[in-house]
Amino acid sequence: MTDAAVKEIICLKNVRREYRMGQNIVTALDGISFTINEGEFVSIMGPSGSGKTTCMNLIGCLDRPTSGMVKIDGEDISLLNDRALAVLRSRTLGFVFQQYHLIPSMTVLENVMLPLRYQGVEKNRWKELAVNALERVELGDRMSHLPHELSGGQNQRAAIARALAGSPKIILADEPTGALDSQTGKTVLSTFSEINASGTTVIIVTHDPLVGAQARRLIKIMDGRLD
Ligand SMILES: Nc1ncnc2c1ncn2[C@@H]1O[C@H](COP(=O)(O)OP(=O)(O)O)[C@@H](O)[C@H]1O
Ligand SMILES: [Mg+2]
Repeated sequence: MTDAAVKEIICLKNVRREYRMGQNIVTALDGISFTINEGEFVSIMGPSGSGKTTCMNLIGCLDRPTSGMVKIDGEDISLLNDRALAVLRSRTLGFVFQQYHLIPSMTVLENVMLPLRYQGVEKNRWKELAVNALERVELGDRMSHLPHELSGGQNQRAAIARALAGSPKIILADEPTGALDSQTGKTVLSTFSEINASGTTVIIVTHDPLVGAQARRLIKIMDGRLD
């Protein structure tokens, strides 16, 4: 690929994020800069408390920096109001969490369809898109099951399908294998690799070096700084 074909999709410049705790200020990110290009498979790795979730919340447009710049898909998030930020988030990002966060009373298919409503997808396409996403994670035969009827790995793949259904440019996953045994974790990681191979930017946040090793690029954080 020539340089001209590489498109920067995430850019952090001198990002600080401080939390006020009564009289004290906790510095979670202490001036971090990096860029991620479209199509990369990156792991943000560091020990507990190093600032990974804070970093992910900024990339995910769930938070704003105390100072510095965060640019997502060409937009400087400091310049967007809450409404515009929510639109950028739902148009650009899909989220996967450690504990899946599926709704227990809804079938797998209903869970995957749900966010499409908020992404402004026409109603008559919800089912088709959800079924496609479930087939991509090899859950086409489990769509009418409830989450408790599936294994941990299947739940996490359903959560990946939910993140994928609206075709986001970026999939962000925070410790996605943290609740799984290592063999099941490997299956879930290979699902992320396949998604990345089809062009989606994938970012996995983890404290686990074995998980980090699956990504094509590592960004290491320590005490709120790049390591
Ligand atoms: N909402 C918050 N209020 C105060 N301190 C926080 C908050 N969130 C995180 N922190 C602190 O910021 C630092 C980084 O936290 P976090 O980003 O959650 O790290 P990680 O995800 O790597 O474990 C830690 O010292 C943590 O205690
Ligand atoms: Mg964390």
